[in-house]
Amino acid sequence: MAKNKQADIGIFGGSGLYSFLKDVKEVTVETPYGAPSDNIFIGEHAGKKVAFLPRHDRHHRIPPHKINYRANVWAFKELGCSSVICPCAAGSLQKEYAPGDFAIADQWVDRTKGREDTFFDGPIATHVSPAEPYTPELRQLALLAAKENNIKVHDGGTIVVINGPRFSSKAESEWFHKMGWQIINMTQYPEAHLVREAGMACVNISLITDYDSGVHTGTAPVSHSEVIKVFGQNIENLRKLLFSLIEKIPADEFYGADKVLEHSRF
Ligand code: ADE
Repeated sequence: MAKNKQADIGIFGGSGLYSFLKDVKEVTVETPYGAPSDNIFIGEHAGKKVAFLPRHDRHHRIPPHKINYRANVWAFKELGCSSVICPCAAGSLQKEYAPGDFAIADQWVDRTKGREDTFFDGPIATHVSPAEPYTPELRQLALLAAKENNIKVHDGGTIVVINGPRFSSKAESEWFHKMGWQIINMTQYPEAHLVREAGMACVNISLITDYDSGVHTGTAPVSHSEVIKVFGQNIENLRKLLFSLIEKIPADEFYGADKVLEHSRF
């Protein structure tokens, strides 16, 4: 447990989600990697201390490729979180994942470049396996939370993470579609992987906002304003899902994520 434990669960805010709980304490966390995207807002729900950090900052000034992912994840670790929830807006690459639906991703494909994506820069060679990048137990709790709130949710999905800030060409989008991958976003990598490297449990909640380039649906290509509009139309469902999930996540339960280093070092 962290020396100075202040939170149990960390939540990243993304496009369209810039604040979460009402009565919050704003704290500044310093990390060896520099400053996180913003101060951290700590509040309480269902007896659990919840730390919220808007990954693009509260005014959406940090684009996905400029986020200091290591500082953000380190800040949650420093505060003592055992679980981290990574909600995000995502495009759909398959027709059945419709705008307004939610998906609890179970895999990612990294198409980013040049991002600092590890805490293990030496001197001890450390190789963490992301074979199962999200914590299965937390995924089940998220699915249950969605179902209890009558929110349409897809159990699983591979999330292609592009570097951004641009969206995808039709050729790229068609390639991802033909590979059978389901959703697309700009922030899950390295965010989710760093959560694992830091030994915390991790779950994604994707809110589908668009059909990406539209190549597989004959719809208009995605725009940023469409993402924000559809996200805004469904944000109450996201909030309900988050509240319900927090109620289900036990405090101080790492689901084995804290053992990540056991088989990762030579
Ligand atoms: N976020 C929301 N929609 C997206 C898309 N189509 N591609 C990448 N990131 C997104």
